[in-house]
Amino acid sequence: MAVQETRLALRNMGKIDPMSIDDYIAQGGYEALAKARQMDRDELISEVENASKLRGRGGAGFNTGFKWSGAKASEGDQKFIVCNADEGEPGTFKDRVILENDPHTVLEGMLIAAYAVGATEAIVYCRGEYEHQIALLRHAVEQAEEHGLTGDVHMHVFSGAGSYVCGEETALLNSIEGQRAEPRLKPPYPTVAGAFGKPTVVNNVETFANVPVIVGKGAAWYAGIGAAEYPGTKVFSISGDVKNPGCYEVATDASLNDVIELAGGVTEGHKIKAVQLGGSSCGYIKGSELDQSVDFDSLRRNGKSLGSGAVLVLNETHNLVDQVQQIVHFLGHESCGKCTPCREGLCQAGVILDRFAAGKGTQADLDMLQALHDLMATDCFCALGQGALTAFVSAYEIFPEDFRERMVN
Ligand SMILES: Cc1cc2nc3c(=O)[nH]c(=O)nc-3n(C[C@H](O)[C@H](O)[C@H](O)COP(=O)(O)O)c2cc1C
Repeated sequence: MAVQETRLALRNMGKIDPMSIDDYIAQGGYEALAKARQMDRDELISEVENASKLRGRGGAGFNTGFKWSGAKASEGDQKFIVCNADEGEPGTFKDRVILENDPHTVLEGMLIAAYAVGATEAIVYCRGEYEHQIALLRHAVEQAEEHGLTGDVHMHVFSGAGSYVCGEETALLNSIEGQRAEPRLKPPYPTVAGAFGKPTVVNNVETFANVPVIVGKGAAWYAGIGAAEYPGTKVFSISGDVKNPGCYEVATDASLNDVIELAGGVTEGHKIKAVQLGGSSCGYIKGSELDQSVDFDSLRRNGKSLGSGAVLVLNETHNLVDQVQQIVHFLGHESCGKCTPCREGLCQAGVILDRFAAGKGTQADLDMLQALHDLMATDCFCALGQGALTAFVSAYEIFPEDFRERMVN
């Protein structure tokens, strides 16, 4: 039987008017916040950390409650909660869909986190192009304040600075502070010294959207859904050669095939050549190997990444050289330029891939791309550069003929 969606982060989609706090409250909204505020803060964190095992949905899959416990334990006269809504990853649009359908669930998750760690400042850093979502969020904050739900927490909505690297959590913090959005050296981690040097929790939109469900229904209930070590659901953004592109939310023990089936499968008359799962810095999976679980750890054991949950489906008409060329030019454009391997490496890789795209690649070019990848994976300052040529390595490993087709000898 075809898999069904399990909607937790998207539970209110289509059921409420996102402009109406009353609609949200009528669906049980803000009950979890009231429940959380009755709980001991360590008990609340333990529920999220150990019982629910919620892990970040922004890409790295880090244990959310563990992050919160770090911020709670850090010394600071002021603490911050930051929601990462920068969403610049190509092919990723799940946070946009969550925000435009249900902004209050994200605010409620942030207010629960603020109570847990003792934060009085909460900032949503939202991608600047998401004007509609920013307006919805600002309206939602006003409503939450009018209903007396924010307590001693000041909530702000910050419009992003228009760069992919602003989504990297420390670059994001620099951007909030009005500085250039360049990643910071870690440690210290944001939980110790984040926004304005104060202990800060940075979590993704989808991560926060899960928190009211976990607190409201109980961590044990949540942990019973999906894969044991990465429980709950994942919202996938599906694009490319499928019949019904869009966002689909499934339990984390579903397979990649199930997810693509929800999007109607591959477009009529075609077959799937490859899927790029996770975003631009992630590898490809062959069309014949999609019967694998989408859970973070199973994928990692198979050498794949879940990333942000982007699923780009490519039919047999694509040559992956064109895909890799596009990715490298995108990342080169978005590189902040702080570190030389990323700034120069992506520039050189772009020149080489342009040669391949024109059918003039050589074996020396392939060797150079591999050498650049090996250097950048270890020497770049942040994950943008470290993963920038992963797509090349993966595409060449799986479809070497695509590159040979574009070589002069
Ligand atoms: C170049 C780059 C871009 C990123 N963009 C985003 C983003 O748009 N949204 C996001 O939540 N995380 C993004 N991340 C990951 C964040 O640094 C961070 O891990 C995440 O916000 C933590 O939240 P989580 O634990 O809830 O996943 C990005 C990382 C890198 C290196």
